[in-house]
Amino acid sequence: MTIMIRAGVATDATALAELAARTFRETFAADNRPGDMALHIADAYGASQQQRELVDPQIATLLVEVDGQLAGYAQLRSSVAPACVTGEAPVELWRFYIAQPWQGRGVAQALMRRVEPEAYRRGGRTLWLGVWERNERAKAFYQKHGFLDAGSHVFMLGTDAQTDRILVRPVSTVIFNGVA
Ligand SMILES: CC(C)(COP(=O)(O)OP(=O)(O)OC[C@H]1O[C@@H](n2cnc3c(N)ncnc32)[C@H](O)[C@@H]1OP(=O)(O)O)[C@@H](O)C(=O)NCCC(=O)NCCS
Repeated sequence: MTIMIRAGVATDATALAELAARTFRETFAADNRPGDMALHIADAYGASQQQRELVDPQIATLLVEVDGQLAGYAQLRSSVAPACVTGEAPVELWRFYIAQPWQGRGVAQALMRRVEPEAYRRGGRTLWLGVWERNERAKAFYQKHGFLDAGSHVFMLGTDAQTDRILVRPVSTVIFNGVA
């Protein structure tokens, strides 16, 4: 299995939009109302939306390819952190998705190793994220990677007000492959 991670560019928009909508459905469709899923997907995903994100200087998009196929992505975003995030220079790990066939196979770990130097390079010293309180697999994964629960916020999935746990961890100051 060859894993390659690279920065996304505008021409990745169509493939990223398809992957993003698919992985969102894979993860959440079983536990949510179809109408709420449709509203969120229409709002968040689509080639023009992903193209805007790919060129937005406030957002860093990392794509992971396994044996040449797009298998997942991560996005870091400069945003206003919730009050419960008290560490210095927070940067949001906004999205972190691995497609089902590659879950549990080390791809997520490889992507997380690249997220960290990217966050550091962008001036981030604290990583924070919101994860649905019912997303047990993701919570277990983040816990393994040193994230700690700092509080909660409300996430609107369509019309459904859901509770996200806010997780935080310091950005490692170790230099990865000279990137930091
Ligand atoms: C969350 C995600 C990135 C984790 O990557 P992964 O390759 O699945 O991660 P791993 O398998 O190494 O780790 C997940 C841990 O959860 C555990 N786990 C698996 N299924 C679980 C479940 N249903 N409930 C609780 N824990 C579960 C695994 O056993 C593993 O822990 P272990 O290594 O101690 O056994 C990946 O599953 C994913 O992209 N999911 C869909 C999108 C998503 O939820 N993104 C996060 C949004 S905030």
